Amino acid sequence: MLNLGEKTVYQIYPKSFYDSDGDGLGDLRGIIEKLDYLQDLGVDYLWLTPVFPSPQNDNGYDVADYCAIDPRFGNMEDMEELISQSERRGLKVMLDMVFNHTSTYHPWFQKALAGEREYQDYYIFKEGKGDQPPTNWQSKFGGPAWEYLPSLKKWYLHLFDVTQADLNWENPRVREELKGMIRFWKEKGVQGFRFDVVNLISKPEHFADDFQGDGRRFYTDGPHIHEYLKELVRDTGIQELMTVGEMSSTHLEDCIRYSNRKEQELSMCFNFHHLKVDYRDGEKWSLMEPDRMELKRLFEEWQTGMQREHGWNALFWCNHDQPRIVSRFGDEGQYWKQSAKMLGACIHLMQGTPYIYQGEELGMTNAHFREIGQYRDVESQNYYEILLGQGKTEEEALKILSARSRDNSRTPMQWSGETNGGFTKGTPWIEPAGNYGEINVRRQAEDEDSILHFYKRLIVLRKERAVISKGGIAFLFQEHADVLAYTRVYEGEKLIVLNNLTGQEITVPAEPAWCRYGKLLGNYEGIWEAEGHITLRPFETVVLEKRG
Ligand code: GLC
Repeated sequence: MLNLGEKTVYQIYPKSFYDSDGDGLGDLRGIIEKLDYLQDLGVDYLWLTPVFPSPQNDNGYDVADYCAIDPRFGNMEDMEELISQSERRGLKVMLDMVFNHTSTYHPWFQKALAGEREYQDYYIFKEGKGDQPPTNWQSKFGGPAWEYLPSLKKWYLHLFDVTQADLNWENPRVREELKGMIRFWKEKGVQGFRFDVVNLISKPEHFADDFQGDGRRFYTDGPHIHEYLKELVRDTGIQELMTVGEMSSTHLEDCIRYSNRKEQELSMCFNFHHLKVDYRDGEKWSLMEPDRMELKRLFEEWQTGMQREHGWNALFWCNHDQPRIVSRFGDEGQYWKQSAKMLGACIHLMQGTPYIYQGEELGMTNAHFREIGQYRDVESQNYYEILLGQGKTEEEALKILSARSRDNSRTPMQWSGETNGGFTKGTPWIEPAGNYGEINVRRQAEDEDSILHFYKRLIVLRKERAVISKGGIAFLFQEHADVLAYTRVYEGEKLIVLNNLTGQEITVPAEPAWCRYGKLLGNYEGIWEAEGHITLRPFETVVLEKRG
């Protein structure tokens, strides 16, 4: 049985990872060239965001063929080689399956457009209300979630971009087709799958206007979701592979079911609640300082809730949709190194399976773009217009984008101090962050005190200590907004993990028993202890271990 607690997953955004042929886009051969780096880092799984043929309107999340490789990234032989070369190094490949929607360039949609009834049933086509769309739902990328097709006199649903049409999972033929895609990749040796926004696949029986929100309450964790997941997993035999669902605006009760082994759905879930604590009134495009109390509350709720009911969390701060965590909850200046390490320790020592997004292990920062022309992401481009339409000045809109854009995480991986951070010999598809001279793999590989080495240690510790991979978790100092602290316990072992979330010194009470503890890990020298107290320095993380 897969021991999920010992594994670490590394997420690769191939377009920005490493360009082997100088066309400015990362590719599969580029990943193959960097496998030694990944092996040395010590991770177990490599999750690749979609490399399937796609018009790339949403950077590959608009899939036009699930069983082939987009020539921009290479070909099937490259993928096969990537899988076998990875295996040789003890690494397993996970692919990203985008099953909520296809690109409108997918042959199924094209056949639907051409009038083939059978394929129209693959999607969600509805009559409008007069000349209005069937419902008032909004797309997650801004604007209405329905698009009118004059040729069919019908509207189709797209919860994301207008070129990403939602699939009709009610149709058993759609479910069979998608199972075929999983079998195809499983036979190629793929050892895991990430399912994109998979908790949105089950739409309600009746479509109604939403007068409280954008429509999501009708289709999030929808009516048949658990049934569909069970069927997919059972019929493709992926119970023992590593599977993770991206759960958009989800609920704890559902995530317990998605990830409890007995349910035979998925291995684990991503939820995003902890990454909304800096959204003003829940609005992504409205800036606010992070609410640390809420962050702590959410971690406690999800960690202890999943523990109680035997669910399993995917632990993460970063991915290709999120701004860089050191820029967001840490410090890009004086405490850059300390805060990046603290944030890493904070989630890597929790209960679940940690994910590292490329460059996070270096403390890569946000992009700091200054002009709209530097952005590539469809969501950023749409929202720039929306923000201007709301009366914001260009400067205000750009400030919001620079904090919230998904492009913050999509800048090229910083391999060295050479031009473009050593990512490409050509012109990169997106500009690199300006600090690649200081923040890069080459520099950190040589420095024992680097963020990179700290991450390596976190990965090793998880394999060495059952208390991390299997232990129970309980939270400390709940009333203290600035310190995220917890204990991990397993058989005779015990750890205390203390994280100062701020740039100020903080003193917390220490229990008498802690004097029998030794320091296992930290981001500062020594430890400051006084009578019954421990002082945590700015962004300090310290892990104490029961000795003797
Ligand atoms: C997920 C992906 C994101 C994509 C969206 C639509 O949230 O992570 O990048 O835009 O789904 O597929």
